[in-house]
Amino acid sequence: MAVSKTIRDLFADRRRGYCLPQGLYVDPGMLEFDMRAVFHRHWLQAGLEAELPKPGDYLTLSVGESSVVVLRNAQGAIGAFFNTCRHRGAQICRETRGHMRRLVCPYHQWSYDLSGRLAHAPFMHEIDTDAHGLLPVRVETMAGVIFICLAHSPPDFAPFRASLEPMLEPHDLRNARVAHTATWVERADWKLTMQNARECYHCRAGHPQLLLSYSDFTGSDGSADRQARLAALESRCQALRLKTGSVIGPWYEIGRFPLLEGAVSYTTDGKPAVARQLGRVGDGDVGVMWWGLQPNSFSHVVSDYGFFFQAFPTGPQETTVTGKWIVHKDAVEGVDYDRTRLLEVWTATNEQDRALVENNHRGMVSIAYQPGPYSQITEQMTMRFDEWYCAAAEAYMAAG
Ligand code: FES
Ligand SMILES: [Fe+2]
Repeated sequence: MAVSKTIRDLFADRRRGYCLPQGLYVDPGMLEFDMRAVFHRHWLQAGLEAELPKPGDYLTLSVGESSVVVLRNAQGAIGAFFNTCRHRGAQICRETRGHMRRLVCPYHQWSYDLSGRLAHAPFMHEIDTDAHGLLPVRVETMAGVIFICLAHSPPDFAPFRASLEPMLEPHDLRNARVAHTATWVERADWKLTMQNARECYHCRAGHPQLLLSYSDFTGSDGSADRQARLAALESRCQALRLKTGSVIGPWYEIGRFPLLEGAVSYTTDGKPAVARQLGRVGDGDVGVMWWGLQPNSFSHVVSDYGFFFQAFPTGPQETTVTGKWIVHKDAVEGVDYDRTRLLEVWTATNEQDRALVENNHRGMVSIAYQPGPYSQITEQMTMRFDEWYCAAAEAYMAAG
């Protein structure tokens, strides 16, 4: 894609430590630019292995115009392919999840085995089946979580694995299930959604339910109280052989941080939402295991459930967000948990964030908008999102 001078100038003129220039949110070329520079080139969290328990189970994920099918193959491993038939390009799997023994194209019934190999092409006499398999998508699994990358040469996954795997493994996400999925549309550029998702500056005014259990550790107030609470969490975790610490990687951030005193879960009273715990978490007082991937996701796992958040641009100034609530696979609704209580805090938080982000968008499109300065205390993670995004854009433009 030839990048317009306007877009190049917008990046060149950006001021560090300030939010982005208006054009990077609203220029008509930005959607395609962001898809190519960001979403086609970087690792994306695709789901949980536990969502695909049996060979032939699949889920699909739309990355811009490109649908990807993620499946469990005949050998029991996770594979991923572009969901586009090698005959005339029809989409093969049309549901967001399902099960098939073979991937059969609904148009002329070419069929592919679970390793993506073309198995049968009716009325095609001399077809080279090896040359017409489904195009593979890079896939990695770690501690029960699936990641995909559409690029031929993805960013190095190994350092991310080395940091997250030992911290996440004890939370046993391989024995989890998705208790609820919510999808909603935000009328705003995806970068506003993610900038908002990377800070808690807005939490005090914006998230009364979340703040009944969440304690903002995204800033750096350096107070003695904060240090003492982190130390107490560390010693509780050590006793359970849960790894603590935080990592700021090139395209990921990972950490474990405490909830408010006395809280063990993201609920309005701080008590568990689910009687069946998720993983090896002792009495549950182990804070939050958190990780975020640039460009578009974050995940929180507490002692009894997990919440995964992911945002994709789906149109100009339109972002579609998916939230997943994860519980132990044997947790039974109505017995081990009440659905309303499980969903309460993050549903309220997501709805509040949607309103904040859409309102940010409404003000930002004004002729009066000028990028303002970020807080060095409470918006550091948002600044790192911007730095990562602009570096990804520069790398894409430099590659031609
Ligand atoms: S497009 Fe798939 S079989 Fe023809
Ligand atoms: Fe928020």
